[in-house]
Amino acid sequence: MQVQSFNTVRRVVFGVGALQSIGEEITRLGGSRVLVVTDPGIKAAGLVDKLTTVLQRADLPHHVFAEVEPDPRVEVVAQSVAAAKAFDPDIVVGLGGGSALDISKVTAVMLTNDGSVEDYFGMELVPSPGLPLVLVPTTAGTGSEMTSICVLSDTKNDVKKGVVSEHMYARVALLDPDLTVGLPQHVTATTGMDAFVHAMESYTGVRASFLTDTLNLQAIRMIAGNLRRAYANGDDLEARTQMLQASCVAGMAFSNTQNGLDHALALAIGGRFHLPHGLLTAFICPWVMAFNLMACPDKFIKIAEAFGENTAGLPKMEAASLAVKAVKGILSDMGISDRLRDYDVPQEVFPDLAKATVGAARLISNNPRSVSEQDVIRLLETNY
Ligand SMILES: [Fe+2]
Repeated sequence: MQVQSFNTVRRVVFGVGALQSIGEEITRLGGSRVLVVTDPGIKAAGLVDKLTTVLQRADLPHHVFAEVEPDPRVEVVAQSVAAAKAFDPDIVVGLGGGSALDISKVTAVMLTNDGSVEDYFGMELVPSPGLPLVLVPTTAGTGSEMTSICVLSDTKNDVKKGVVSEHMYARVALLDPDLTVGLPQHVTATTGMDAFVHAMESYTGVRASFLTDTLNLQAIRMIAGNLRRAYANGDDLEARTQMLQASCVAGMAFSNTQNGLDHALALAIGGRFHLPHGLLTAFICPWVMAFNLMACPDKFIKIAEAFGENTAGLPKMEAASLAVKAVKGILSDMGISDRLRDYDVPQEVFPDLAKATVGAARLISNNPRSVSEQDVIRLLETNY
């Protein structure tokens, strides 16, 4: 067995109403001037007001940077850092989905490290710790509150790139299911599937360990049991709670393994066509599972069983393929097509997408089955 390690966020505060305790968490970390990093949608939904009301009550001066865009470009980091420098915070709070949390993480480290964010694309290249960071997710989700990863769009080269650094782990992740209740149905579906893909890719990946298996299998069971419920009735607080917790534990796991072929394809297609990340990982998911089945059928059988499929007495590969059937079923129930032609991606870009996919070494190196450009083109053609 290879020697491996496991890192995670130091403290997780969770439960309905957890947001009310953010003032104490900030004070405990020595914070007194708070930069809030979020996006315009979160602000319009009234969630920023919920947070700033608590900060005011705790007498904590704060500045809100609410300019994070979906698929944030590298340039957004310069804007958030400039806003931060003008305010001079001693702590950063990220509020939102993956994009807002990713930008808050990278802002916290760019305030204490020189150079530009491009210098830190890659694994563990950030030299020094950043400002203390509190992350509050409003989707379930990207799991970004539990990871050390920030993904940015490099629009010059039409690709997405990641900064991965231990220094970007939050000091506190604060999970309040109340904040996810207002999520629109489609976002519930796509972000919930993204959480499933994190757990699936981390669980079946080559860097999986006893710790990540424990977390991922639990996440998969929680998602299998609750995503349809949260989709069907957004006010179902029990389902929302389970989904937020599942997203958290999947994030905790994949931060240590990275993802696989699904995310590599999602970043390649998303870098060029700017479709929402959760939608991409969702519709790519059954293709990649079918492709990877032969590499670790026993794990796919466990996934099938988590979705309630009856695998008893079936030949191994047949039992494993029920995992693909289960995922196609949940996608169809939530109105997500798994055919590429429905997303306006022209066939002539397949070679470019294949090149970008195979080039995403951080992700492809964890995929359980080796992947060539030819394999990717075949996958895109088969599922067109
Ligand atoms: Fe993802």
